[in-house]
Amino acid sequence: GAIGIYKWRYTGLNRWHGKGSTPNFQKIIQERCDTYTQQIRPDSRSRDCQGITQAFMSAFISKDPCKATKEDYQPLIDLAYPTVPCGKAVFWSKTKELAREYAKGRGLLTLEDTLLGFLADGLSWCGEPGSSDLNYQSCPDWKKDCSTNYFSVFWEVLSERFAENACGTVQVVLNGSIENAFDKMSIFGRVEAHNLRSVVMLQAWLVHDPGKPPRDSCSGSSIKELESILNGRNVRFTCRDNLR
Ligand code: APR
Repeated sequence: GAIGIYKWRYTGLNRWHGKGSTPNFQKIIQERCDTYTQQIRPDSRSRDCQGITQAFMSAFISKDPCKATKEDYQPLIDLAYPTVPCGKAVFWSKTKELAREYAKGRGLLTLEDTLLGFLADGLSWCGEPGSSDLNYQSCPDWKKDCSTNYFSVFWEVLSERFAENACGTVQVVLNGSIENAFDKMSIFGRVEAHNLRSVVMLQAWLVHDPGKPPRDSCSGSSIKELESILNGRNVRFTCRDNLR
């Protein structure tokens, strides 16, 4: 009856509103780690992929999927700190694919070019208290369920470390076809922009979708907001419309 369905909905594996864990999550992590350390960056061959996979799984398995903390991921981050050489980092917000292309064409690197970013790129994951398995049915949605879910906290803590370690001149690719190209609630706006410890200059590129009217520009108020955050940190700032 209705009560049975209610109970099932709120206690079952299906109760969250986000996408469930990616099938074969652990196997994908393991395989990506081997590919990265052996083929993509052979200088990282000494990395312990078994240990890294173990640390990733232990961070969230058997835990309440809404109670993720940065500390849960600390052992994993300690095994593979996200660093790139000075002058090579590219940040993005609502422009992932384009930023990846932009970086690739210029010998620059996004978070997804570091080991942990590469491992988790495009995957979802969450566990379930009292179970050693992942929840493949559903995972918490940031808005509808909880912001402290394991997926979101992972990208936040990894992005924070990535930004802290960026140095020299760095770039950010932003979307000029949306209302606020600089979104202060995004990871770039909330986390990365505030953690640029050794960055001397940030160059912003505002990309306009050729099929859509431009909705924001370098002279718009959202970019002014970014500029003022950077001014407060003594980071020089440039902005150019239209990367295409
Ligand atoms: N694959 C899947 N999801 C990701 C990835 C990824 N490689 N990176 C981030 N995410 C998640 C995060 O939860 C993020 O908030 O998807 C969301 C993407 O949201 P956007 O608003 O497009 O961008 P933003 O929140 O600004 O996050 C991107 O943070 O991950 C870092 O260095 C990265 O500068 C980039 C920024």
